[in-house]
Amino acid sequence: MARFAYVNGRYRPMAQAAVHIEDRGFQFADGVYEVCEVRGGRLVDEPAHLARLTRSLARLSIAPPIAMHSLRVVIRQVMIQNGIEDGLIYIQVTRGSAPRSHAFPQKPTRPSLVVTARGADRGARSKNALGIAVVTVPETRWLRVDIKTISLLPNVLAKQTAFEAGAQEAWFVGQDDLINEGASSNAWIVNGDGVLVTPPKTAQILEGVTRAAVLKLSRSQGIDIEERRFSVEEALAAREAFVTSATALVTPVIRLDGAAIGDGGCGPVAADLRLALLDNPNLAPRLAQFVA
Ligand code: PDD
Repeated sequence: MARFAYVNGRYRPMAQAAVHIEDRGFQFADGVYEVCEVRGGRLVDEPAHLARLTRSLARLSIAPPIAMHSLRVVIRQVMIQNGIEDGLIYIQVTRGSAPRSHAFPQKPTRPSLVVTARGADRGARSKNALGIAVVTVPETRWLRVDIKTISLLPNVLAKQTAFEAGAQEAWFVGQDDLINEGASSNAWIVNGDGVLVTPPKTAQILEGVTRAAVLKLSRSQGIDIEERRFSVEEALAAREAFVTSATALVTPVIRLDGAAIGDGGCGPVAADLRLALLDNPNLAPRLAQFVA
């Protein structure tokens, strides 16, 4: 099926979809993005993703390109035009295009909005659900990773390091030897006492929408939780480890820097949380209900 993208007010075939070469996203990575899962033709956790998009834009003083209710319609149009029942929606907003100069353009620019969609990679997804390998890398990102910016070079390099080591994710480790998060996911362990540990909401991690959903689920199941950072040593001694994201859901981590975690397979807490998350999704209405 042909792929279509929404670019600044128009739905275009992918091959013809383009932004200006002076777009500040291209020139400076001056923009933000969101990735939202589509399951059974419905968006998962849409309000939380749009709320985070609004926060990211506000933190960078980028005006919303269109009203949020219009964006919700655009997203659905892109899902329909691409025939997406299960997959991902990608939303990117940049400050717009202007002659290259670092400071914000003096003449207000129209922010650029791009929305694309792609179908789920079922093969990779079912393989990863059994467990992935993670490697640790030094934290090299800026101090405001709570903003979901498209400036992802350290994450790109970290992921490449992981792939070259035969792993699927990299965990950023701060100078204090404590883990912040993954290159594209939040990090979790279940320690020897059965306590779920994940780094707290600070400027050193992205406030994951899936992280919030898993915290809520765990609380409702009476699981003990500690929101604090943990060391590589603690992770290596943990019963279980896993990552969360809109694309990974809850994905077990079965190897860290080459060493097995727990018994080297998917642990019971990660398995239960993954199933619970699949059973209790926060789904947006289908398009028919939305426009009715
Ligand atoms: N990544 N931390 C980082 C650095 C991320 O890039 C992501 C998401 C997360 C998890 O956030 P959420 O649960 O809201 O997806 C944490 C997306 C999926 C991506 O860049 O593709």
